[in-house]
Formats: sequence, structure tokens, C-alpha cells
Amino acid sequence: MSCELPRNLDDDDDPTMPAIPVPHAAQAYRRGSLWQKGRGEHLIELAGVRRGELVLDLGCGTGGLTQQLADLVGPGGRVVGIDPDEARIALARETAVAPNLEFRVGTAETLGEIARGRPVDVVFSNFVFHWIRDKRAVLRRLRGLLHPAGRIVVQCVSSLPVLVGELSQLADPSGETILRDFAFEDAAALARHVHGAGLQLIRLEEQQGTHVYPTLDALLTWWRATTHDRFDPRAIEPAALARFAEQHGEGGAFLVHETFCWFEARIPPAHAWGRRG
Ligand SMILES: C[S@@+](CC[C@H](N)C(=O)[O-])C[C@H]1O[C@@H](n2cnc3c(N)ncnc32)[C@H](O)[C@@H]1O
Repeated sequence: MSCELPRNLDDDDDPTMPAIPVPHAAQAYRRGSLWQKGRGEHLIELAGVRRGELVLDLGCGTGGLTQQLADLVGPGGRVVGIDPDEARIALARETAVAPNLEFRVGTAETLGEIARGRPVDVVFSNFVFHWIRDKRAVLRRLRGLLHPAGRIVVQCVSSLPVLVGELSQLADPSGETILRDFAFEDAAALARHVHGAGLQLIRLEEQQGTHVYPTLDALLTWWRATTHDRFDPRAIEPAALARFAEQHGEGGAFLVHETFCWFEARIPPAHAWGRRG
């Protein structure tokens, strides 16, 4: 099998992408994460977002799903997207513009009030929790921001997919650079964090999914963007990359098999906490 080395991320030839001066990793992430977007649209359906609601999109990335949430809440509602990656927020601000939509740079760990004096109706978070180390503390913080009848809907990856684990090891044998910020946990652990944060688990599912990258280049570009450039394919010996391609390519395509979870949590009804004296 021929082994195509990664194209320069600066090669921007897609006429549908806006010509804006943002670092290209953000654009590469948006292009390469169609599977995550599809799953996110499913999570939006599960969240049952209604007109007039206040929605927090935690870890909003480049803002495509945030825009869809803003359409659902309508002009009487509001959506705030928060992400620590300044380049992704810059791309979101340029491409997802609506009067009821706002993007902020920030992290789950440092969240303050979302809208002055107004509790959040829906916390939506798609493929972010596997980056969060202290999930229980973040869930407690989200509980504090939530309307008593509000809901938290989260989707995240349960464990490192084997294929990208192998790929990462070729570039970074110790795993210290590429994998250091991931914090994968499975469904059982997530359930314990939800309860530990004083929330009620309404539903939780663990599923398997497969994303398909049509070329090695597409796989490398997506993984590089997902790891915020920490994975650098140029660190891999060309012969080792060719072996990887030969071993894992299926008709030239690369299949990433992933185990992921989604859950909905709410504040328990007042009677579940017992009587106050
Ligand atoms: C896989 S992307 C998902 C982006 C978006 N939710 C989507 O579905 O397109 C994960 C995002 O989580 C953000 N992130 C990582 N750590 C975070 C944290 N501690 N708090 C909030 N967001 C974080 C990253 O910057 C990245 O944009």
C-alpha cells in the first residue's frame, strides 16, 4: 500500500470554508470531525431543547452544534458556548453568528455565572468530558448553575481507541505528550460521579461506534487537530508509518472503533433530599 505523508495543514483549498486568519488546526478539526458532529446532533435530539431556554454548550469547539442549539432556543432563548481553545472560539465567532449566541474562552473547571441572575436550563457537552480530570467537581459546579428543572446531557469517549493509541505510540513512545491530558472513564465511573455530585442519573448508555477516514492523511490530520497539535505525524519514521498503513488500512481507509457513553442527569426532586428541619 502506498503511504501518503500528511498534507500541510496550511493547504486550504476548500471554497466552503471562510477565508479568515485563524490557526488551521481549528479548521482541520471542524472538517475532520464529522462523526463527532453526527453524534452531537443525536445528543441535541436527546436533550429536547425548547424555545426560550438558556443553554450552556460546554467545550463548544468551533461552534457548529452551538449554532444548531441557538436555532432551537429561538430569539427568546440564549446559548453560551465555552471552550479553552482560543483558535476554535475565534472560528466559532466568525462563522456562527446570531443575536442569541455568545462564545467565551474558558474551561469547565473555572465556570462562573453564565447569564447574570438566570440559571441554566440545559448543559450540553459533546465529546469533552474525556478531557476533564475531576469530573465529579465539574458536575458539582454544573449542578450549582442549573435551574431546578434543568438537565445536563453529556457524551464522551470511554477509552482510547486502539488504532489511535498505536499511532500515538509511534510518534511519542512514552505517551507523555500526546495522551497526558486525556481522562477517559467508562459508564460505571461516570454514574458514580453523577451520584457523587448530588445529581440524579436519568439515563446512561455506553455504545460502540466507528469513524471512517478515507485516507491515512485524513486520519493523521484529524488526530493531530483533536490532540491540539500534540500528535505530530512528522515525528514518525516514514518506514514505521508505511507499516502502520499496511497493517491497518482497509482498502485505503482507516476505521477508528470507539466506545463512548452518553448520559442525562438532573437535580433530584426536593423530597429525595429528605425534610428540612
Ligand atoms: C472533541 S472537541 C468537541 C467540540 C464540540 N463539542 C463538538 O462536538 O464539535 C473537545 C473540545 O473540548 C474542549 N475542552 C478540552 N478541555 C476542556 C475543559 N477542561 N473545559 C472545557 N472544554 C474543554 C477542547 O478545547 C475541544 O474544543
